[in-house]
Amino acid sequence: MTSGFPVARPRRLRATDAIRRQVAETRLHPADLILPLFVREGADPRPLGSMPGVVQHTLESVRSVVQDAAAAGLGGVMIFGVPEHRDATGTGATDPDGILNQATRVIASEVGDALVVQTDLCLDEFTDHGHCGVLDADGRVDNDATLLRYQDMALAQADAGSALLGLSGMMDGQVAAVRYALDDAGRSDVAVLSYSAKYASAYYGPFREAVASTLTGNRRSYQLDPANRREGLREAQLDVAEGADIVMVKPAGSYLDVLADVSAWSPVPVWAYQVSGEYAMIEAAAANGWIDRDRAILESVLSIKRAGADAILTYWATELATTLR
Ligand code: PBG
Repeated sequence: MTSGFPVARPRRLRATDAIRRQVAETRLHPADLILPLFVREGADPRPLGSMPGVVQHTLESVRSVVQDAAAAGLGGVMIFGVPEHRDATGTGATDPDGILNQATRVIASEVGDALVVQTDLCLDEFTDHGHCGVLDADGRVDNDATLLRYQDMALAQADAGSALLGLSGMMDGQVAAVRYALDDAGRSDVAVLSYSAKYASAYYGPFREAVASTLTGNRRSYQLDPANRREGLREAQLDVAEGADIVMVKPAGSYLDVLADVSAWSPVPVWAYQVSGEYAMIEAAAANGWIDRDRAILESVLSIKRAGADAILTYWATELATTLR
């Protein structure tokens, strides 16, 4: 007999908290989360106006932050350096006493094996022109000269105790160049995370304040055009062929299609970076009472995992991990 009423009733599995929890397809775990950290030279931590709740730490103040991150069960921390002085080739990046390498030493000794200590491998925080590489005589970013700088950076970061190098500069061949330099120096133990599909995004706006970047021009000659989906997958394929241990899509929320493509194909873990602008938008809307902050945070991060990310870099990592527990 057909009653005319539906036989299929998906609402049965949405009826109670218990049944919804039982059938949830995606779960977030504290170990899925990685906290980006900014460490500056100087004596005082500096709160960031465009990222409420995020601070440029000092070598001292960052200690308790990584202890909290470890206690919350995070997967790791990604360290960015904010130097006092910058120059054309970013010498601070390869100086063992440069702020990023110093911060890495401090954090590695603080957390031991409790977290994966990861470092941003890019020149933009260290160059006076703010580009991710060195410039040629015509002022263009010189791909292959930059690779040589990245190789030196990789060795300095490995020496400082980084376990995972986050290559965020979008130079062609950067994974192979860094892998070769590490292996040649006997550091085949150090892993490479490639920001494979890093888009030229407006959502990095608040980050530029976070690292006090002095960028002249833009990054469109090396970061991907937001119009391109197929190219995101191609970049990930090239990086895996060059030896990347992990690939990343960045930003996250506006690039879930690219993330889904990469994760459907990838033989290695796929991560995503929920960037500064994604953070700032939710914080700003919540501060105005326009959005439920906690629900929006959880939904935004859960959606990134649902789209295929194995782990997520987010400025809410410690807070979110604590609520997940
Ligand atoms: C480059 C780098 C950027 C971010 C991380 N690494 C920015 C850029 O290309 O300008 C952005 C992170 C964020 O916005 O949260 N080293």
